[in-house]
Amino acid sequence: MTVKPEQKQKKVRKNHYIPNLAAAYFKPTEDWSLDQAREEFEKAKFDFPVDRVLYGDCVDFMRKLPDESVDVVIADPPFGLGFTGKESIYNRDERFVRRGYREVEGDYTEFSEKWIKELPRIMKEGGSAWIFSGWTRLDDILRAIKESGLSLINHIIWKYQFGVFTNRKFVTSHYHILFLAKGPKYYFNKIVHYPLDVWEIKRTYRIGEVKNSTKLPEELVAKCIEFSSRPGDLIFDPFMGNGTTAVAAKGTWRHYLGSEVNKKMKNVMDSNVKSIKPGQLYVPYSERHDELVARARRRYGVLNEKELSIVKLDQFQS
Ligand SMILES: C[S@@+](CC[C@H](N)C(=O)[O-])C[C@H]1O[C@@H](n2cnc3c(N)ncnc32)[C@H](O)[C@@H]1O
Repeated sequence: MTVKPEQKQKKVRKNHYIPNLAAAYFKPTEDWSLDQAREEFEKAKFDFPVDRVLYGDCVDFMRKLPDESVDVVIADPPFGLGFTGKESIYNRDERFVRRGYREVEGDYTEFSEKWIKELPRIMKEGGSAWIFSGWTRLDDILRAIKESGLSLINHIIWKYQFGVFTNRKFVTSHYHILFLAKGPKYYFNKIVHYPLDVWEIKRTYRIGEVKNSTKLPEELVAKCIEFSSRPGDLIFDPFMGNGTTAVAAKGTWRHYLGSEVNKKMKNVMDSNVKSIKPGQLYVPYSERHDELVARARRRYGVLNEKELSIVKLDQFQS
């Protein structure tokens, strides 16, 4: 069949790309107002006690959890570096570093297989897991994931501002974060228009605060939680450390549960969890600033009430 010139032109126009138009109309897949998020948190019911941390081995603890009981797993295991948690990291006052970090005793490959194989049973259908890893033992973690049957959805790089000082090699300033799902249908809330797989988030060093030196930023853990769960969901962390997952979950209207083998972290963890109010970190997703979306909205004049009032105010002032 021969295509007439006017038909050809129509086809081209139909596929015409308008830059960032989708960003101008972006809406999160699901969103909750402050009141709705609190309601979801309050109405969630569980058959076992939640919002607590058990002190002991994570594998023993997971074996006691019922089938399909957790929505999301956040796991930041020891990295198998022979690390004591007291190593010197640039710009840190060692007086505030808590001892007793438990590295892996024995074989790291076996350790990784042992705890990762417990995850699919305790995860709900539609649930997901985020596993943190350094680059040196990443092969062990990836092998254990494959054996567990979990599917790898994304391999994310967390880039932080600085790491352990080196003289004869590059300074490591990234972690790997593996985003995994139990099955083909998993919950993913697209809360930003263009979510990239390289995350630049600063490590936080709060002066005078006691911690174990592997503390993750709350912002980083909250990001994992918010993309993969709803308010009221249960977030499980087998390696609680300073309680960062508990803080991020409580602050975003989620429930938490976890284990930590080092009892010396109890005071630090309790005081971290106490320092945050339920929902304190939560801002409805559509009210958060997204530079790409804001620019596209200005360009195409797709402004919401709040943005329109700012534009009107600007015009009035100039
Ligand atoms: C990398 S740190 C986690 C840090 C945590 N994400 C935070 O932000 O504070 C790993 C933690 O796992 C703990 N741990 C090691 N082996 C464990 C086990 N078998 N069961 C439970 N916790 C364990 C260590 O004592 C350490 O606190």
